[in-house]
Amino acid sequence: MCGIIGYVGQATSSRPLEVARQALARLQYRGYDSAGIVVANQEGLSFVKRAGKLSALEEALAESPLPAASAAIGHTRWATHGGPTDQNAHPHLSQDGSVAVVHNGILENHQALRDELVEAGVEFQSQTDTEVAAHLLARAYQELGDLPDAMRATARRLEGAFTLLAVAQDNPHLVVGARRTSPLVVGLGEGENFLGSDVAAFVACTDQALELGQDQVVTITPDAVAVTDFGGNAIEPRRFTIDWDASAAVKGGFETFMDKEIHDQPDAVRDTLLGRMTPSGQMQLDELRVDEALLRSVDKIVVIACGTAAYAGHVAKYAIEHWCRIPVEVELAHEFRYRDPVVTAKTLVVAISQSGETMDTIMAIRHAREQGAKVVAVVNTMGSTIARESDAALYTHAGPEVAVASTKAFLAQITATYLLGLYLGQLRGTMFPDEIRAILSELEKMPDRIRQVIEGEDVIRQLAVQMKDATSVLFLGRHVGYPVAMEGALKLKELAYIHAEGFAAGELKHGPIALIDEGQPVFVVVPSPRGRDILHDKVLSNIQEVRARGARTLVVAEEGDNAVREFAEQIFWVPQAPTLLAPLVAVVPLQIFACALASAKGLDVDQPRNLAKSVTVE
Ligand code: G6P
Repeated sequence: MCGIIGYVGQATSSRPLEVARQALARLQYRGYDSAGIVVANQEGLSFVKRAGKLSALEEALAESPLPAASAAIGHTRWATHGGPTDQNAHPHLSQDGSVAVVHNGILENHQALRDELVEAGVEFQSQTDTEVAAHLLARAYQELGDLPDAMRATARRLEGAFTLLAVAQDNPHLVVGARRTSPLVVGLGEGENFLGSDVAAFVACTDQALELGQDQVVTITPDAVAVTDFGGNAIEPRRFTIDWDASAAVKGGFETFMDKEIHDQPDAVRDTLLGRMTPSGQMQLDELRVDEALLRSVDKIVVIACGTAAYAGHVAKYAIEHWCRIPVEVELAHEFRYRDPVVTAKTLVVAISQSGETMDTIMAIRHAREQGAKVVAVVNTMGSTIARESDAALYTHAGPEVAVASTKAFLAQITATYLLGLYLGQLRGTMFPDEIRAILSELEKMPDRIRQVIEGEDVIRQLAVQMKDATSVLFLGRHVGYPVAMEGALKLKELAYIHAEGFAAGELKHGPIALIDEGQPVFVVVPSPRGRDILHDKVLSNIQEVRARGARTLVVAEEGDNAVREFAEQIFWVPQAPTLLAPLVAVVPLQIFACALASAKGLDVDQPRNLAKSVTVE
């Protein structure tokens, strides 16, 4: 995890500091245990770092401002080695003060390197793994006299995952970065250049960017960017244009990013659908560069993801199996990776990730590709590791998601996997063109339906306020309602720190029903009565079963489903939608509920405790 920013410009001014401050604000979702900035000018290096959220750094900067400079590097931390203290905050300086570094990742051989450096007389200031890199870099710099060379030499000695940025006391027009496994992208400006953990770091300054690959070192000066491998061989990086609207990463009048991102959902779904159908009504997925013959011959799909993205995968399973008649397995990426899964050249792996940097998912992708499988990534962040390392990337267009708990990316992921399913259905001939067109036309109506649910948010918010002292909430669903229930429970755990569990409603009688006691709140996601009768009726029976045992039943049901009225204490109506598409509306009241309940408890909904948005360690 951790967010990092590097900046270099021509003039000596306050801009490096400003760029770094703004970038850290945008990157805070990657960790918020501490933050720090170091700037470089003709006089040398000056830094400020503080434990706690960015506001603590801001206060420190107000008290002791950093000087005008031409370069800066900054860091926001999610602590791994060493507690969240001022001392352990980045940047870390070498003992002689000649270089400063910030780091994202884990240096697995840090103890051996630390022992070696202590033996050589280095006195350590922190408990971090990172500090060894500062001392090694300074020694290599002294020996080689060139910062990029020194960075390559240092990188060759490090094991584990790292993105390292460094500035030197004696060269205020140079920032050097190294990356192995942890993310780093380059932003190209006019007379200035940027390095960031992801494009959100600098999207307010430029929309031009370069992808960096595994084991590369990048050097930025105001006018040039040079990339090499760790051996010093030049590399030509791929350039791309960032199509995110920079204003999407600000709160825009909402109290929290999460509130805003819930309200962004109609646009996230609409934008993900844009341009996917030719005028003649054919599905087209331009980004899907996997050979069509191979896609026709696929005999199994395995979806790998973590957290909310995995629940999007569960929804995809129901839709893709139904439309394409291909078996679909959904697996948490970390379980897949270490299970010896059966994967062949005829397996299509679909990796879903908002950030494109989740280490568990990256490792699972590498494992799948080693077994000969093709990997399609459903990913939100352009230039991210997962997009780059997969055979094809199908982008969701949710825009930057800042709140740690995912909302709009989830809806965009579900939408993108529907598109993938329809595309495969078309290619493999399991669906008629008019069937595909009918579903696409229903999908195009989903943004308005989502908007309607959001417009009715007051009822959900009131319930959340009433329930702010709840200690346990259960969620039940069947079929596509099951992943919706699991996502509803996850949101409540993440945001409100309340014990919550999502169950398949049919599983209730096999154990969970023992949890039901007088007053136990149970959310039930009811399938459309216009879909399969049996599904709807079974869920109605489940509501009665929990109600008979004293549960307080809170029901998400489709408008017009009058049959639910007599069993529900409270109903959240969602607009009518085809059964397989219904998760796009059914999950929205559950997101709003968790967000409002956490706010009512006075919690920080954008940055819940112990979590980070992008989990870049295994
Ligand atoms: C973290 C976040 C979750 C997210 C999961 C997967 O756990 O807190 O909100 O769903 O990572 O992230 P990804 O970026 O791969 O979708």
